[in-house]
Amino acid sequence: MTKRSPPPAKKLNAAELMDWIEDIEQRAMKAVADVQDADGLASQTAVFLGRGGELNRALERLVDLAKPERAEAGRRANQVKAKLESEYGRRREEMRAGMMQAQLQQEALDVTLPGRPLVRGRIHPANQTLRQIIRIWAEMGFQVYRSREVETDELNFGLLNMPPHHPARDMWDTFYTTNPQVLLRTHTSPGQIHAMRQRAPQPIRVVLPGMCYRYEQVTARSEIQFNQVEGLAVGRRITFADLKGTLTAFARRLFGAQVATRFRAAHFPFTEPSAEMDVECFVCGGVGCPVCKGTGWLEVLGSGMVHPTVLNNGGYDPALFSGYAFGMGPERLTMLKHRIEDIRYFWKNDLRFLEQF
Ligand code: DAH
Repeated sequence: MTKRSPPPAKKLNAAELMDWIEDIEQRAMKAVADVQDADGLASQTAVFLGRGGELNRALERLVDLAKPERAEAGRRANQVKAKLESEYGRRREEMRAGMMQAQLQQEALDVTLPGRPLVRGRIHPANQTLRQIIRIWAEMGFQVYRSREVETDELNFGLLNMPPHHPARDMWDTFYTTNPQVLLRTHTSPGQIHAMRQRAPQPIRVVLPGMCYRYEQVTARSEIQFNQVEGLAVGRRITFADLKGTLTAFARRLFGAQVATRFRAAHFPFTEPSAEMDVECFVCGGVGCPVCKGTGWLEVLGSGMVHPTVLNNGGYDPALFSGYAFGMGPERLTMLKHRIEDIRYFWKNDLRFLEQF
């Protein structure tokens, strides 16, 4: 790399200054041609064209010359300066373009590559069934009524005709809070009391969807947390025929118009009489298979005529009003529909399971 030459100590005459200027031109042109990179170019620019660079120092010596010679040498020096500036500028531009080109090549972006597909979320299978159930009941004139998941002992049991120590409570063991009177609801049935107390003495047609909790051993068939959809109709002259007809219509909408249903006598403390509804096994068509355990029938819900005590607790006079109620589990229905063998899949969050629905 060309270093700065020491300033001439003595005064220069015209010929010497002209030689120096020509010499600067030659060396500077060679340097700019030899330069390899932007750093080299910058330092050579400083050497020849910078404020303390050689050309400026040569210009300073113009004072050594007499006037006419000074004008001529000055003109020549400015010519050289313009030539060098343009050449150095050209090289700078050339390098900048080269670097840009290299960078573009290095960071090449293939815009023809297909984009990454968006992962689409979907509705959880239990919620799909839940929504389907709600839609059917809504079409049949039932309002959705939400009620709380944290309940009192009185609402979850007592007002549903299960006083303390009632043996039926064993069917619904639950999680208690530090206050033994406050618990996580074991079923959506306490929502019946809320709805009745809010609406009495108006007639009611509601479904109550929501999460329920039970203190149970988690197995393939039982979870500690699951959804239920409760139903309640209260009014004058509502009969067991209404219960059967409405639930049958519901089953046909959910499982298909051809599905056969049957009602079996059952017992729930909050209904009298009580019945469980079965649908004909849609796996074997009623012949008997492992899914229906050879019976040809699948149990889908519990139901019954609202017990007079419960009507009373809800604020309706049982002498004037009657009603029916029912409760079903969307997870259980989903299991039947898709032949899912293990209820634990619903909370496992295993995509291999969830993505099938
Ligand atoms: N609450 C009941 C349970 O969790 C289900 C049930 C049965 C609800 C009969 C009802 C009913 O409203 O009438 O097992």
